[in-house]
Formats: sequence, structure tokens, C-alpha cells
Amino acid sequence: MEAELLGPAEDLKGKDVLEIGAGAAQCSRWLAAQGARPVALDLSHRQLQHALRIGGGVPLVEADAGALPFADGSFDLVCSAYGAMPFVADPVLVLREVRRVLRAGGRFVFSVTHPVRWAFPDEPGPEGLSVSGSYFDRTPYVEQDDEGNAVYVEHHRTIGDRVRDVVAGGFRLVDLVEPEWPAWNTSEWGGWSPLRGNLIPGTAILVCERD
Ligand SMILES: C[S@@+](CC[C@H](N)C(=O)[O-])C[C@H]1O[C@@H](n2cnc3c(N)ncnc32)[C@H](O)[C@@H]1O
Repeated sequence: MEAELLGPAEDLKGKDVLEIGAGAAQCSRWLAAQGARPVALDLSHRQLQHALRIGGGVPLVEADAGALPFADGSFDLVCSAYGAMPFVADPVLVLREVRRVLRAGGRFVFSVTHPVRWAFPDEPGPEGLSVSGSYFDRTPYVEQDDEGNAVYVEHHRTIGDRVRDVVAGGFRLVDLVEPEWPAWNTSEWGGWSPLRGNLIPGTAILVCERD
């Protein structure tokens, strides 16, 4: 939002914007407040129920980012904050779908956990600063329930993989933003902390343009 990677806030007015992996649709509500016409899409019924409870009048769509239920050229912009892209085995499929629903010259801006974090334990303290695995190991992280069903799956791509995916999906990569930890943020949660944030990047944002 502050970085204006979707363009200056005043230019968002009247734009058709799709948010994929929207969760509770917080980005879409911000976009609506700027005068844009967002649609919030998520695979999870529960997440969309949460969005519905919060309100805001944003249209909500339950669908897979790999099979978008929209006509070609429906949107000026597509965005995603940690949504869908880290969780799909075939990110190029999603990129091709996003390209299809974008109008010529449209942007897709998406964030993922910075790939370098894959090599470190997800701990906020000093133990989160020592390499514990290979950055190059693409074996997905899987959590299972008591019956052995996968309940959470995250796929790792290196930075190079992400760049190649974007190009294979039919986009031009115009920026790769690695936001620095803001000095005002003294909070710790999960693997996030000022200690780690000041030393290694936490997020990678890819800014892609449809040719
Ligand atoms: C880490 S959450 C991020 C939610 C929100 N964007 C945010 O910033 O809080 C990831 C979201 O992506 C959704 N998701 C995962 N795979 C998806 C897919 N293939 N298609 C659409 N949404 C997906 C999940 O249901 C979840 O709501």
C-alpha cells in the first residue's frame, strides 16, 4: 500500500482489481476505500466467511487461483499478499491464469515469504539465525492430521525459480522488492522479530507486468 506497487493510490479509483488468496480480504477493503472495484478470491470457505463477518461490501469469490472463474481481460490489476502462490505446486499455472484475466499492460503484484527464510528455523530469537536446512531443497513442508491427511502444504521456490516462473507465465518482472524491517515495529510473532528482520529479509514482493 505505502510502497504504491499497484500505482499511486489516487490512480486506483475505478480500477477493477482481483485479490487472490485474499483470506479475510483486508487488502480488498483498503482498495475499495481508495475507490477501486476489488474482488476478493480465496479457496477457503472459512476465510471468506471471516471476510463476510468483517463486512465492507467487497464481492467474495470461492475458487482456486489455478482456475479463475472470470472472462479474459476482466481486471486492470491483480494482487496477492502471501496468498495462493506459496501453497501451489504449479505457480506457473496460476501466473498464466492471472495473465489471462488481466487487461493488456496490467500488473500482478504478489508477495511471498522471502525464499532465503526456507534455510532458517522459523524462530524469532537467535536460534532463527543459524542455517538449518538447504535453501535449494524444494521438498514441500507438509503438516498432517492424525489420519495422515495433509492439512497444510507450503512449496518452496528459490528466488531464481520465482523469476523463471514469472517469465514462463508470460510476464515481465519490473521489480523485486525486499522490504526492510521498520524501526517502529518492535513486535515478535511466529518467526518474525526485529532481531531477524534487521538481518535477513522476511518478504519478497514481485511486481510483474503483462506484456
Ligand atoms: C497466508 S494466507 C494470506 C491471506 C491474506 N492475503 C492476508 O494477507 O492475510 C493464504 C491464503 O491463501 C489461500 N489459498 C491457498 N491456496 C489457494 C489457492 N490455490 N487458490 C486460492 N486461494 C488459496 C488460503 O486459503 C489463505 O486464505
